[in-house]
Amino acid sequence: MSGLVLGKLAFVTGAGSGIGRATCQVLAREGAQVIAADKNLKSAEETIAALPITSNNDNSIGHSSVLLDVSDSNSIKSSLNKILGQFKKPPSIVVNCAGITRDNFILKLSEEDFDDVINVNLKGTFLLMKIFAQAIIENNVQESSFITIGSVVAKHGNMGQANYCASKAGVDIVTKTAAREFSKYGIRCNSVLPGFIATPMTDIVPEKVKEKMMPLISCRRMGCPEEVAEMITFLASSKSSYVNGASIDINGGMSI
Ligand SMILES: NC(=O)c1ccc[n+]([C@@H]2O[C@H](COP(=O)([O-])OP(=O)(O)OC[C@H]3O[C@@H](n4cnc5c(N)ncnc54)[C@H](O)[C@@H]3O)[C@@H](O)[C@H]2O)c1
Repeated sequence: MSGLVLGKLAFVTGAGSGIGRATCQVLAREGAQVIAADKNLKSAEETIAALPITSNNDNSIGHSSVLLDVSDSNSIKSSLNKILGQFKKPPSIVVNCAGITRDNFILKLSEEDFDDVINVNLKGTFLLMKIFAQAIIENNVQESSFITIGSVVAKHGNMGQANYCASKAGVDIVTKTAAREFSKYGIRCNSVLPGFIATPMTDIVPEKVKEKMMPLISCRRMGCPEEVAEMITFLASSKSSYVNGASIDINGGMSI
């Protein structure tokens, strides 16, 4: 069997929905053994149940799911311990798709909604990178790849999303910093910056807002989660071996 990430162990957060679920599907299609992690364990289990069993050197390899809250270091450590027990090694591909929105205009945005978004999106990215990088270094895993998810809105801001934009700008710069700090351990770190992707996160955006967005997108449509997952899988693979500290737009040619 051939595949971009054949035989690699991949860990994906936010794997129960949208971009995370599509990432599990594409990574599995390309030969990885996938661990789907989500705060909603049932949804992660559903993602795994729908994956084809891949095989490596004639041995069937199973995928796995795990409960995880990326904003809680104890939860990340216990997920990692479960993985180490099950697979005897940490993953060499770590994709952090977990993310939330709590939109409101600044004048109405509560402190709690500001903190929640920062804690999941930004602090979660930092915690996951720190704890998984420590395990990768301790276990001497070679050629690892971390992929984080920023957003097009982090470049210029977006009405009603001060908390989200701040968190995603932070994700981008944490990823660039990690790329510098981790390269000596053979860990590459890159982020993708999706534009307007059709997932449960954007299902709640009112139709009139979606219509207003379309003229700003040269492809004149929303993106599919699979289109983001394909780039994530490229960044996870050795095909991108000289890409490090990059932020890659996936927005159909969006001008905002
Ligand atoms: N959809 C878009 O247009 C878009 C655009 C730019 C960036 N993004 C980013 O892409 C990522 C995936 O978004 P999506 O559209 O697939 O969203 P989604 O809502 O479909 O999926 C998010 C997943 O993250 C999980 N999750 C939430 N909080 C968590 C936590 N604390 N710990 C673990 N899991 C948690 C949810 O249970 C869910 O399964 C997010 O980081 C999002 O900010 C999405």
